[in-house]
Amino acid sequence: MTVDNDKKKYLITSALPYANGPLHFGHLAGVYLPADTFTRHHKLLGHNVLHISGSDEHGVAIMLNAQREKRPYKEYVDSWHQEHKELFDQFNVHFDYFGQTSADYHTKEVIPWFTSLYDKGLIEPRDSQQLQCKSCTNHLPDRFVKGTCYSCDYKDARGDECPNCGIIIDSVKLKNPICQICESTDISEVTVTQYYLLLSKYHNEFQTYLNSKKDVWRKTVFPFVQSLIKDGLHDRAITRDLDWGIDVPLNTPEAKGKKLYVWFDAPIGYVSNTKQLFMESGRDKTEDYIKDWWGNEDTEIVHFIGKDNIIFHCIIFPCMSMASELINPGTDVPSNQYLNLEGKQFSKSAGWYVDAKEALDQFGSDALRYYLFSILPDFSDSSFTWEGFQTRVNGELANNVGNLVSRCLKFWNKNWSDGLEAKSFDNFFNSKLKSHFENSTKEIHHYLNDKNIKKALESLMALSQTVNTYFSDLAPWAQIKTDENAAKETIGVTAIQILILGILFEPFLPELSKNIIKLYGDQVSDEIKSDVYKANYSSLKELFSNTVKLVAEPKVLVPKIDKASIAKFQESLRAKTQ
Ligand code: MF3
Ligand code: ZN
Repeated sequence: MTVDNDKKKYLITSALPYANGPLHFGHLAGVYLPADTFTRHHKLLGHNVLHISGSDEHGVAIMLNAQREKRPYKEYVDSWHQEHKELFDQFNVHFDYFGQTSADYHTKEVIPWFTSLYDKGLIEPRDSQQLQCKSCTNHLPDRFVKGTCYSCDYKDARGDECPNCGIIIDSVKLKNPICQICESTDISEVTVTQYYLLLSKYHNEFQTYLNSKKDVWRKTVFPFVQSLIKDGLHDRAITRDLDWGIDVPLNTPEAKGKKLYVWFDAPIGYVSNTKQLFMESGRDKTEDYIKDWWGNEDTEIVHFIGKDNIIFHCIIFPCMSMASELINPGTDVPSNQYLNLEGKQFSKSAGWYVDAKEALDQFGSDALRYYLFSILPDFSDSSFTWEGFQTRVNGELANNVGNLVSRCLKFWNKNWSDGLEAKSFDNFFNSKLKSHFENSTKEIHHYLNDKNIKKALESLMALSQTVNTYFSDLAPWAQIKTDENAAKETIGVTAIQILILGILFEPFLPELSKNIIKLYGDQVSDEIKSDVYKANYSSLKELFSNTVKLVAEPKVLVPKIDKASIAKFQESLRAKTQ
């Protein structure tokens, strides 16, 4: 065996979901599914890949909800953490590590970041204005207050950001502020001391980093970041007066009782979770999570996020990383746009959402993943509709792939259950079909390398369509009546193409892929799979230079979605609009 020395490293991160309520299709399509596919793709190429995420468990939004439910914070976040882990499992979204920011190992990792920035003079205490509720006496940072946005007049802006225009909100400037703890509007300004991250001192270094991203970041990301910094980087408060979070690691009187702002500690979760993975698996004996990964020039760091997280991943976290000199800043930030539900924003509080678990139980992961990929909001917002789901799964995935597999392989089993000999397969390897597969594979990989997952899947579906055409044009059901060998060859050559399709589907629909490959038995080794994925067909040719038989009768691989099964989901949404 040869050792691959230039195995490229990929650190792939998915935005840590808040442990604060159910995840919906928008989260899945915006972040976790594309990240999962990108990870699987690079693993199949034999690259050295880690996919890291975990629960984001601090911050005011979580405190408010835990308080409303009268549950201790830790118990509250633990239960959502568990819930999310199960959902990802069911969706076949795989992480190498999915940790928690309320864990001790995370706190230990965060402290050196603060200390390093503080020692370098990039953090200092300052007096600042903050809102306080006169009625319940609470201080109101971040989401403890809502009001009208002073930039776009959106009525429901939060104290930290405006969900409408995307600006970072200075809560004291909000118009008509309302306390989110007691609903009072009797609110006044008070002076408090907080620690600030002095981003303004770091403007030039950041500008150099940003310039290097001009042709790397998406056209929906780079100009947006540029517009955010057009009048310089602003210093930002990174501490809060709260009783849930990571203590400010200083012994000064001002630091007493203060916690770090959730957005200071959360992205460090990518790093702490990598370290924890190495500790738990024993990899720390041979690899250093910083030297070999986060601080390694040869590592591609790819952050999958939704567009509301751009400021943090494209500006603040890169500044923290470079200024602290602890890790390298991100390479790429493939940020997606929003997915709506039947044309309107998902909203748990308005009941405008779909229980992702319930949908999974009903339709399985292949159908939902397929549809979500086909409407991925990668460059513009898009909308999930139940009718669209039914149309695309039935018309594309079931017709184009499911039917093809069952028509061909059933025909094989019915007529030649003892197997087909090498000569029935041989033609694939000399034919134009083979180079067609090589070219399509190249195209699919090109799109995947570009994180253009939707296009990659379209290209794979087009390839599957050509196999359909091949099969129908030759019409083995007619051939068998006059020329059995010709029919055998049609089936043999189609069956090879189906197996290759099955392998190429792995990054997108791992369940379907497994179910197709399984029909050909254990002889399809991991080595064959990885060769075929790279369009190297020599080990596959060896396999098919013997008599091959199917090990199982193909069952329905892609069940059709019937009207009745989507009706109950449509019904429950319709009830919300009345
Ligand atoms: N919890 C945040 C959200 O859902 C994302 C955090 S990403 C990280 O919007 F960088 F902080 F990890
Ligand atoms: Zn109040």
